[in-house]
Amino acid sequence: MDRIAITGGARLQGEIPISGAKNSAIKLMAASLLTDEPLRLTNMPRLADTRFLGKLLQRLGTEVVESELESGSETLLTTREIVSGFAPYDLVRQMRASFNVLGPLLARSGQAKVSLPGGCTIGARPVDLHLKALEALGARIDLHEGYVYAQAPRGLKGGEIDFPFVSVGATEHALLAAVLADGDTVMTNAAQEPEIVDLAECLNKMGAKITGAGTSTIRIQGATSLSGATHAVLPDRIETGTYALAAAMAGGEVRLTRTRSDFIAALIDKLVEAGVEVTAHNDGLTVKRNGGRLRAVELETDPYPGFATDLQAQFMALMTLAEGESIIRETIFENRFMHAPELRRLGADITVHGGEARVRGVEALEGAQVMATDLRASVSLVIAGLAARGETVVNRVYHLDRGFERLEEKLSACGAQIRRIQGDGEAED
Ligand code: UD1
Repeated sequence: MDRIAITGGARLQGEIPISGAKNSAIKLMAASLLTDEPLRLTNMPRLADTRFLGKLLQRLGTEVVESELESGSETLLTTREIVSGFAPYDLVRQMRASFNVLGPLLARSGQAKVSLPGGCTIGARPVDLHLKALEALGARIDLHEGYVYAQAPRGLKGGEIDFPFVSVGATEHALLAAVLADGDTVMTNAAQEPEIVDLAECLNKMGAKITGAGTSTIRIQGATSLSGATHAVLPDRIETGTYALAAAMAGGEVRLTRTRSDFIAALIDKLVEAGVEVTAHNDGLTVKRNGGRLRAVELETDPYPGFATDLQAQFMALMTLAEGESIIRETIFENRFMHAPELRRLGADITVHGGEARVRGVEALEGAQVMATDLRASVSLVIAGLAARGETVVNRVYHLDRGFERLEEKLSACGAQIRRIQGDGEAED
């Protein structure tokens, strides 16, 4: 398996173009199952997760054509007919979001058999809300031997879906099914993430009638069929926030382009509180830090527009060098502090009690061998390595490849001493 080696201490100077959002791209790709016409997605990130979903869609009947153009990467998805409504364990297990093919398969062909995603390193992550939403739309759901058997022989019907708590995946899943239901659907306590708005906008271009996306109440007037469309994937706010944190950690001045600062408003507030200079532009933001120690700040993760759980690990890395004690509360996922022991290997002073981490800033970190068990935790180790003395080697880089496009290239273009060490086939688990 590949590793990433970072020699800390180099300040970052330059520009980083932000890619299309992974978490949006994979839901938009699943939307192609809803129509027999081509769906053209532009500003597509090329990541292990999007490649992986492409493979699953091909098994279900989608023709997937990728093109690299001067204007960026595009994917053309055409599902003339659904040839299989079966998503096996081996595929769903590897990427949880592939469970979201269930709704569109059911909406278009009246039946589906999709594996339950199973456990995950960042908590139990059940799918009960997804299944309840589909039941509210008239689906019959049976669970056998780890599979969801879903049926709606006479099609889905509009219904009322009141989520007991906010779930991004369940809100998206309900949208992907309700657009082809007979009648109107109202979702309350829906997630408000920008990726939900992006999905709703794409579905509306395909002929769906969705209003209220981006608020907690979403209304959908069901359609009998949807058409093809062209849609640009929105910028990745987690990638944006991650590079903003990298610049804050290493020091220097980095301009993040092709993105939107308003998507990371909660992070910007905390960066400013910690003593980082942030300037918004119409195509992104500039993050600057010149010398001086950062100040410790307190934060809690929350659903959008709150502080994103997907930036929590990276922010913790930054706080390891801040002056004072920082308190970080994780409210979205249990067990999402897997990075804390690895950051400690670099010399960080962190204690974790339940959903709360206390980080007492140290003068300096020291490079070491580390590894992480999920995507955001892995990149937090890269950020820490940018400021650590000596060399940090991050193992199990496949997590990074799932969600960050050309990470080493983007960081080294700004002066970071970072390189990939090709795997020698040895097992690391
Ligand atoms: C999505 C993002 C992930 C991000 C998360 C929260 C994708 C591919 N992933 O994950 O990067 O960290 O939103 O912003 O878009 N839950 C249930 N039952 C359910 C569904 C969720 O109990 O049926 C719980 C989860 O375990 C978690 C909480 O609800 O504790 C929120 O999860 P959710 O918003 O659904 O996250 P995902 O959609 O899985």
